[in-house]
Amino acid sequence: MKTESCERERTDSEASIGAGCTKVAFTTFGCRLNQYDTESLRTLLQASARFETVDRSAEPDVFVVNTCSVTAQADAAARKAIRRIHSRHPGARIVVAGCYAQRAPHELAAIEGVSLVIGAADRERIAEEIERAAPPGAARLAVSPIEDARTFLEVPIAEMTERSRAFVKIQEGCDEACAFCIIPQTRGRSRSRALPNVVVQVERLLDAGYSEVVLTGVHLGDYGMDLDGRRLLSDLIRRLLRLPGLSRLRLSSIEPASISEELIDLMASERKFARHFHIPFQSGNDEILRRMGRRYSAAGFRSLVERIANRIPGCGIGSDVICGFPGESDSHFQDTFDLLVELPVTYIHPFTYSNRPGSASAGFDGQVPGEVKKRRTRALKRLSAVKTEAAQSVHLGEVVEVLAEVGQGTYRQFAPRANAVETRGWTDNYLRVRCISSAPIADGKPVSVQLERLEDAELIGTVVSGGSA
Ligand code: F3S
Repeated sequence: MKTESCERERTDSEASIGAGCTKVAFTTFGCRLNQYDTESLRTLLQASARFETVDRSAEPDVFVVNTCSVTAQADAAARKAIRRIHSRHPGARIVVAGCYAQRAPHELAAIEGVSLVIGAADRERIAEEIERAAPPGAARLAVSPIEDARTFLEVPIAEMTERSRAFVKIQEGCDEACAFCIIPQTRGRSRSRALPNVVVQVERLLDAGYSEVVLTGVHLGDYGMDLDGRRLLSDLIRRLLRLPGLSRLRLSSIEPASISEELIDLMASERKFARHFHIPFQSGNDEILRRMGRRYSAAGFRSLVERIANRIPGCGIGSDVICGFPGESDSHFQDTFDLLVELPVTYIHPFTYSNRPGSASAGFDGQVPGEVKKRRTRALKRLSAVKTEAAQSVHLGEVVEVLAEVGQGTYRQFAPRANAVETRGWTDNYLRVRCISSAPIADGKPVSVQLERLEDAELIGTVVSGGSA
């Protein structure tokens, strides 16, 4: 999608960077934070009359690859994308940003075709850095030490180009020291976005037509600690819930220790605050949790999930789990599996443990063989499917509110037969629903859906009101 035009037209004789209007396309890997970071890079470039952002079919002059480095596979995917771009567009300049760029800039600079590697603390200067970028084959580094960053990079975003829901970053970085994690090295210390700026940002996105806002951060629960010396997440949520035009406010991943009774009460009492906690649980064995540097116990997690489920009926409760952390025996893993069987979680995101260079656990003994890690991951995926089906089945026959996601890859709206349109969307408690209507549904708009059946792990229902496109 072309989102903004240059003030100057580019001519053939102005093909080099800095000589005319530069067309920039983006590729993003990783989490929602990274998606938001891509939007902020796009916004920074659009603020300059010398750049226009385009999609990849428009023969871009510059490709920005916003990378993730959470696993070895994420690194490999980024390298592959860079090589593919270079082979298809040998004259284009490739700019590499994101967590991998911060973690291993020289590794990326050595890849053929890379012109610039830009660090997390250097993003604000992306326009000038691109203009100073080396030609393909002679990469320049613009990567400052991230540990020095103390302020949140404020970039007001007018619209998200790729999502029906608006993901709003309110916090960056992390002060914890989990043994497996490199995010403090790639994103630095915890720092929060000023509360009034978050409110203005959300208002802008509501004005742009978004109904659901998802608050994101590396460590959401720490929001406000650097601003006010206390946690401000509940204050911020209360303020946002009063905004006209907001249908739903959702939290992205939040640490177990950050889920306070106040937060649970708020979710239980506020209809617009989506009933959904995604909790990085990681292991159900205390010895492994200690080795990971996690500051809670399996019993504490059990108590938390039970309190949430009792206080917020129907709450979607998701859980990240690391499979095959160094030292994890079959019996340790069984503790995790058994606890998740017993608890009312509604889905599980299992991650196969991956050694990250620079993380403490990369040097731990007791590394688990790859096949064992994969077997444990598969077991949790199967358990997740069972858990989700149980959560879905409870709602059969009910009328629920769904926010449609139109035109988003697998969520594309299509017409399987005459007078029937199918659209995917999500309930507030994070169940995916295939909605059948007689007319197209507007993107991101709430519809009431009568749930009728379960098919291919999806709830299916008929739209009974709302959402006309
Ligand atoms: Fe990946 Fe960085 Fe997000 S490592 S998961 S892009 S915080």
